[in-house]
Amino acid sequence: MVDELHPRRGARARADAALERLRPRIRARARRRIGRGATEVLLARLDRRFPDVHGPLEQLYGAEDLDGLIERLLRMVVDASAARPHELRALDYRREVNPDWHLSERQVGYVCYADRFAGSLDKVADRLDYLGELGVTYLHLMPLLQPRQGANDGGYAVIDFRSVDPRLGDMDDLERLAGALRGRGISLCIDLVLNHTAAEHEWAERAKAGDPAYRDYYHLFPDRTLPDAFERTLLEVFPDTAPGSFTWNPALDAWVWTSFYEFQWDLNYTNPRVFAEMLDVMLFLANRGVEVLRLDAAPFLWKRLGTNCQNQPEVHLLLQAFRGLVSMAAPGVAFKAEAIVPPQELVRYLGANERLRAECDLAYHNSLMVQLWSSLASRDARLMTVALSRMTPTPPTTSWVTYVRGHDDIGWAVTDEDAGTVGLGGFGHRQFLNDFYSGRFPGSFARGARFQENLLTGDARISGTAASLAGIELALELGDERLLDAAVRRLLLLYSVAFSYGGIPLIYMGDEVALRNDLSYREHPELAPDNRWLHRPLLDEAAVERRQRAGTLEHRVFHGIARLAQVRRTLATLRAGGRTEPLPADDPAVFAYRREHPAAGRFLGLVNFSDTERSVDAGLLAGMDTPRDALAPHGRFSLHGGRIWLPRLGTCWLTED
Ligand code: GLC
Repeated sequence: MVDELHPRRGARARADAALERLRPRIRARARRRIGRGATEVLLARLDRRFPDVHGPLEQLYGAEDLDGLIERLLRMVVDASAARPHELRALDYRREVNPDWHLSERQVGYVCYADRFAGSLDKVADRLDYLGELGVTYLHLMPLLQPRQGANDGGYAVIDFRSVDPRLGDMDDLERLAGALRGRGISLCIDLVLNHTAAEHEWAERAKAGDPAYRDYYHLFPDRTLPDAFERTLLEVFPDTAPGSFTWNPALDAWVWTSFYEFQWDLNYTNPRVFAEMLDVMLFLANRGVEVLRLDAAPFLWKRLGTNCQNQPEVHLLLQAFRGLVSMAAPGVAFKAEAIVPPQELVRYLGANERLRAECDLAYHNSLMVQLWSSLASRDARLMTVALSRMTPTPPTTSWVTYVRGHDDIGWAVTDEDAGTVGLGGFGHRQFLNDFYSGRFPGSFARGARFQENLLTGDARISGTAASLAGIELALELGDERLLDAAVRRLLLLYSVAFSYGGIPLIYMGDEVALRNDLSYREHPELAPDNRWLHRPLLDEAAVERRQRAGTLEHRVFHGIARLAQVRRTLATLRAGGRTEPLPADDPAVFAYRREHPAAGRFLGLVNFSDTERSVDAGLLAGMDTPRDALAPHGRFSLHGGRIWLPRLGTCWLTED
């Protein structure tokens, strides 16, 4: 019975009672399959995690046969534990002893498409030395599970979550690669597209064949009544190439919910069978050696009329329940949320909800990325300082992934409120950024392109590689050395913040050798409509070679980034988990941020976004004992007249000696 005065206590009591009922059965099953010692470990995890699974599932799926549902899920957990390879169990034990592994200052990520990076999965293993030069400890391979044929949104339309895209290899290759990476201290991260399947996935085929159980896996509507009602408040993801959020399918004789492209069918998570299926997929991938699951498009998992159907409270309950269950069988596995949402929503994916419960371990720091590009264009860090200082602190056991560029477009998640605080109009500033990065703004150094321009609302996003957006493409075109120097400084400046803001920094493939926009996608009919391919180039072997030749652009950028990784690993203050505090600087072009570590002392990051030398009040150093610039030779930095001086587009990492 619900305890009206203490609803939570009631929930806890119900969870305890359910655990008491289920535990003997789970114990018996485990004893049959995994022996005494492992059973004790599993039961310890069950006891620890059960309330965090029971609570969310009760809220999501109601009380009716909740025991039955949970028992089915726990059986999957036991079976996955039994099937977990020895090496991965060892990983679990290590991670349970050191649950903070993902917070370490030694973590450096690299993100690439296996084919564009190396050709295929087995060839990725041949490039581990290259990754070693960059200090990489975490490798995110872009979608590699079997996609539909033809257009597939860069692999985000999956027809089989249990097999690999045959063009890249097979499951054995993936398992081998995961093992080889682990041997080198690198965690493998892959995408799990849990919001939708391809329209040709087996579940979708069965739905098309009329099986009511599978029709219930998707959101289907006989006519436009509900789709129209939902569309009144939905935001279109691809207004240009895939307008609307529903697609008529004659075989289904229904409108099916398609938030993204018409061939990506949103799954119906009000159906507990969908939840169970996806849990099984997670456990399967965990047992192949995947260490981090990137939960694609997580905000979209739950729909509610009258809302934009993103970030609904149930999304968090789903993620918490998945988290708890996966942690029982494979505690070595981390979840990374892909939630490209406004700042106040973002931290919730790390578990910063009203009720603290483990959710995702990692999340993309989309706001930091957006603010970096915004400050770079305006040469003004005030908006960045305000927006980032307003963010809710993240739970200390979680970490951001901090990045400059990724495979998607940049959407200008700048709130009107933040813009207003520094005297800007939100809409006007977003328009400025679109103009600037598409090269239309007079004097712009950027060579990007508008993505999904919405002529009705005036909204747009930006595509282009980091090098092209930072001015390297234009400088090379003009053959202007001074412009090239500034552009390289810009790129390294952005990366210097990503490497020091308190999270796992991600290097997006090609940025380390300054790859420019790749126009070749226009010749592929399937890719041509989507200009995000502009910034998904093939790794250029010649550029990779040139990284070894002093004086080349590639040498400078590559070693600049590698150096950030080298220095980062020596600075315990950069370990995630603590708080990063942006500080107001008395020069608007300078972004200042401070981190503190109980043992390693203070860190002060300074970034000058302007093309001229700038200075800030040395008062920012207050409390720091013999500060030195960890990035500079002999730690020297320029301090005179009571001010810290920064070269144009320069960076300082001030630490205590
Ligand atoms: C994520 C991916 C994006 C994809 C979408 C739909 O946002 O990053 O590339 O288009 O999900 O799967």
